[in-house]
Amino acid sequence: MIDGKKTLFSGMQATGNLTLGNYLGALKNWVTLNEEYECFFCVVDEHSITVRQNPAELRKRSRDLLMLYIAAGLDPEKNCIYYQSHVSAHAELAWILNCYTYMGELSRMTQFKDKSAKHADNINAGLFTYPVLMAADILLFQADVVPVGIDQMQHLELTRDIANRFNGVYGDVFTIPEAYIGKVGAKIMSLQEPTKKMSKSDENANASIYLMDDMDTIMRKCKRAVTDSLAQIRYSEEQPGVKNLIDIYSACTGKTPAEVEREFDGKGYGDFKLAVGESVCSVLKPLQEEHARLAKDKAYVDQIIKNNAEKAGYYANKTLRKVQKKIGFPERVR
Ligand code: TYM
Repeated sequence: MIDGKKTLFSGMQATGNLTLGNYLGALKNWVTLNEEYECFFCVVDEHSITVRQNPAELRKRSRDLLMLYIAAGLDPEKNCIYYQSHVSAHAELAWILNCYTYMGELSRMTQFKDKSAKHADNINAGLFTYPVLMAADILLFQADVVPVGIDQMQHLELTRDIANRFNGVYGDVFTIPEAYIGKVGAKIMSLQEPTKKMSKSDENANASIYLMDDMDTIMRKCKRAVTDSLAQIRYSEEQPGVKNLIDIYSACTGKTPAEVEREFDGKGYGDFKLAVGESVCSVLKPLQEEHARLAKDKAYVDQIIKNNAEKAGYYANKTLRKVQKKIGFPERVR
């Protein structure tokens, strides 16, 4: 609780090009929830280096991502938008929590299994302990709620297990966080292989809509989206391609899947895909325009980066000091 408000924490990696999945599964819900909670939105640059990054590119992408949070409608005066690497308490708490997390737990994480298969030449210890850093992110801010897409649920469950374990030994130190999963858009699938998650790292550029794609590209990708030969617009597991397009359209327009089915009853896939493309453009165009405007206002963005790192550091260090004391680290001499 901060000033009588519950706390919300979430973050995104600045690796690769952000997709419509990141937006509909996470960022969009952040904007909906931000009035209700005291919010911390982090650009998790420390998570990014579990796979090799080009330094200049990482720096640029991190800033782009921070501006995107603001462009999406998060007021940086009200929401604490900051870089993870500017608050050293993240790494410090992660070390401590490493000592309360089991190898067996970490080796069960599906994202670790997937990523180590993909980067077989660089299975580093950071990739393995990555979920502990994520737990530290969340627990540092005593977050009550963590809005994420479905793919992060396993990491969130682990966070709760670590927090409960720690509380079991030392008393009520951490708030146990709850995941917030949006009703639609929590798992946006690939446009080319709709049984697979839409992902930044997909090699097929037609599989993902990137947040910075121009409008023609978005329309083209929607038109090329894989469907089926059933020729009916139904929200059903048997039609994963159509179901995914309904999810996208629902999330972009606010209509329920049942309303979408009714709207397109008897219509063809061509018309439907066109409408899906237009709905995506109507969401991403203003986002891109606002991002471009912010990119020109260096002084304003710099000020936000500075102020919010201080604010995040204040709350994070409060928790860290409490943890250090509970564990038995010697007190600081003032
Ligand atoms: P990341 O950067 O992979 O993804 C950011 C957010 O986007 C969601 N997401 C999706 N949602 C729906 N459909 C998709 N296809 C899709 N792809 C991604 C993710 O679920 C996530 O919410 N480890 C996290 C970042 C992180 C974090 C945290 C999140 C670090 N610390 C603390 C919450 C709290 C990650 O790599 O997300």
